[in-house]
Amino acid sequence: MDMPIYAEITLVVNGTGHRLSVDTRASLLDVLREDLGLTGSKKGCDHGQCGACTVLLDGRRANGCLALAVAHDGAEVVTVEGLAKDGRLSPLQEAFIEHDAFQCGYCTPGQLCSATGMLDEAEQGWPSAVTGDLGADTVLDDEEIRERMSGNLCRCGAYAGIVAAVRQAAQRREAAGT
Ligand code: FES
Ligand code: FES
Repeated sequence: MDMPIYAEITLVVNGTGHRLSVDTRASLLDVLREDLGLTGSKKGCDHGQCGACTVLLDGRRANGCLALAVAHDGAEVVTVEGLAKDGRLSPLQEAFIEHDAFQCGYCTPGQLCSATGMLDEAEQGWPSAVTGDLGADTVLDDEEIRERMSGNLCRCGAYAGIVAAVRQAAQRREAAGT
């Protein structure tokens, strides 16, 4: 049997730098959970189908289970543990609580990281598959939110609350001009 091959990489995770020796076959998700003890990111399918493992990778949402850690040497990663700042939940996290946007909570870390990245994408004018007018400003109505969050499954079916929470966070962000 071939022996595992290890590589030295650095990752900045939630603002903290780490130097790691990783199995070249290891996913970013496994490195976060097993080497760094950041178990907020969840392993649902390990096949890129459920979104429970979503993190922000160099500012963009990505499935941690599909990213080989060794391919992201030097990357900046934000996990659900890094969304709160100075002990305060992010507006999106607060909206999830207000709208009861979860039941078991297993999908929630991925939903939160995905929605955080999605709000930035929309603000930057990225269209989705349901965007009608590519020249108009993005309006995050429920159809847009559902489409843009369609990579994140919720087995509890908390979708109504998730859409409401994301809509509220989008509206508050727009009102605050941030
Ligand atoms: S665990 Fe990564 S997409 Fe399901
Ligand atoms: S809250 Fe249970 S899977 Fe989404």
